[in-house]
Amino acid sequence: MASWPLTWPKKVVDKAKLGIYSQFEAQRGLPITMLVKYFNSLPDTSWQLKENIRNMVQFKTWNLLEDYTALGKFDIVFCRNVLIYFDDAAKAQITEKMAKILPPHGVLILGYTETLVDPKGQFVGVDDFRGAYRLK
Ligand SMILES: C[S@@+](CC[C@H](N)C(=O)[O-])C[C@H]1O[C@@H](n2cnc3c(N)ncnc32)[C@H](O)[C@@H]1O
Repeated sequence: MASWPLTWPKKVVDKAKLGIYSQFEAQRGLPITMLVKYFNSLPDTSWQLKENIRNMVQFKTWNLLEDYTALGKFDIVFCRNVLIYFDDAAKAQITEKMAKILPPHGVLILGYTETLVDPKGQFVGVDDFRGAYRLK
């Protein structure tokens, strides 16, 4: 396993900050009315999320093995296909850290094929939503 941080998260975050999506990406599941309302079309046919929406988002890179209570509380955490890199002991530590930043009934979303390692039984699976877990 490569050590964290890798060099490419910065590139990915820089790209995400721009909020630019190809026509294909922008139309995957987004109704056209919302596309027109929240995005500006660019000359090359791509779409950019409007600045007032982009300004609502904070981007940070963070090592999941470190403490992240300083990041604040989150109603929902998407952590799709990341735990695959860790052994069960590290997965259990991350589960505990996630529990600390979620409010009661906050939701943690893992990848579709991932299973939570939760030795303290802090989470319950969300019915009919594979990979989703709710804090008790
Ligand atoms: C397979 S990608 C999944 C990316 C994205 N969540 C998705 O579903 O498309 C795994 C991600 O885990 C990140 N990652 C690996 N080790 C990490 C760590 N210790 N802390 C935070 N992120 C880590 C990698 O940088 C990579 O972006």
